[in-house]
Amino acid sequence: MKLVEGVYGVVNGRHVKSYAVETSSGMKFTCIEYGCIITEILIPDSNGLKENVVLGFDTLAEYIDHSPYFGCVIGRNAGRIGGAAFEIDGVTYHLANNDGENNLHSGANGFHNVIWDSAVVVKDTEVSITFSYMSPDGEAGFPGNLQVEVTYTINENNELLIQYQAQSDQNTIVNLTNHSYFNLSGNLKRTILDHELTLHSDGFLELDETLIPTGEIISVEGTPFEFRKSKQIGQGIEAGHPQITLVGGGYDHPFLLSPVQNQSQMTLFDLESGRKLEIETEEPAVVFYSGNMLTDDFNIRGTQSQKHLGLCLETQKPPNMIDDLRFPSIILEKNQQYTTQTVYSFGWDEGTGPMSHQ
Ligand code: GLA
Repeated sequence: MKLVEGVYGVVNGRHVKSYAVETSSGMKFTCIEYGCIITEILIPDSNGLKENVVLGFDTLAEYIDHSPYFGCVIGRNAGRIGGAAFEIDGVTYHLANNDGENNLHSGANGFHNVIWDSAVVVKDTEVSITFSYMSPDGEAGFPGNLQVEVTYTINENNELLIQYQAQSDQNTIVNLTNHSYFNLSGNLKRTILDHELTLHSDGFLELDETLIPTGEIISVEGTPFEFRKSKQIGQGIEAGHPQITLVGGGYDHPFLLSPVQNQSQMTLFDLESGRKLEIETEEPAVVFYSGNMLTDDFNIRGTQSQKHLGLCLETQKPPNMIDDLRFPSIILEKNQQYTTQTVYSFGWDEGTGPMSHQ
């Protein structure tokens, strides 16, 4: 394992540190203190060519100016809160309405725009980077002083483990996720439309026209939301469905995860490069977002952004379901520990790519 520490940039006079971790089989992972952003993950393809599989920038200015939440931790709340308000213990709390009348990803003062403190632990077969942040009572509109820690551990098996921890001195809302956009083609050569996804979910949450869950669970059976057997994402989108049209041509829905045995809950595979990503989480749901709202008016490390250039698998609790007892609550009670984790395992077919037969 190799670790290189650096300075990624400066915000308000403060240096933002970066950490680059490399495994001996060729994965390279880079993250920064700003927003806990994962800026780059290099993975070999089936010919051993190491390329980047996440959307990210080379400068802090781009993250600050126009990032569609590339690679960051979203908090205190991931997703939308209807009417940008919620009630806890009879008190109504108001958040920024930054998405029509709703709040999305906790607004401009969310965790994605915060500089976290960091510490590293290096062991023989793994490196952990722990980011910590004390979010004061009332920040972004949420009650309670909240102490949060996010740890990224990269190991020799080319796994990335993300562990989240939080504790508050008042009842509050906490629903954290990482908002990395994946594209396994390598250096954004293609969109994610021909990526194959397996997602063990029997049902997803229907959305209303402002993308807030209606409370209705729709069975995936016989719909383009069926990913229990691997399917090309583009095929699903082309098949059409009112819920696909509603979110701008693609997926942007909370899928409820079903129990699985001896297989990963989610697998993303790109046949052409041979790269594979498997995801396992303790969370009950994942918001699968197929990059429908990625606009083409900016560049991502020299490649023009476009719709479907990346996809997010945002593991979390179903959003906005504050009083719905069918789902685990997003309310974190005073002095209780919030803990959760998600593992991302990267792999690649070795020596089976088209080039290796030439
Ligand atoms: C989430 C939301 C999407 C979109 C992206 C970021 O996935 O559900 O609607 O806002 O974040 O642009």
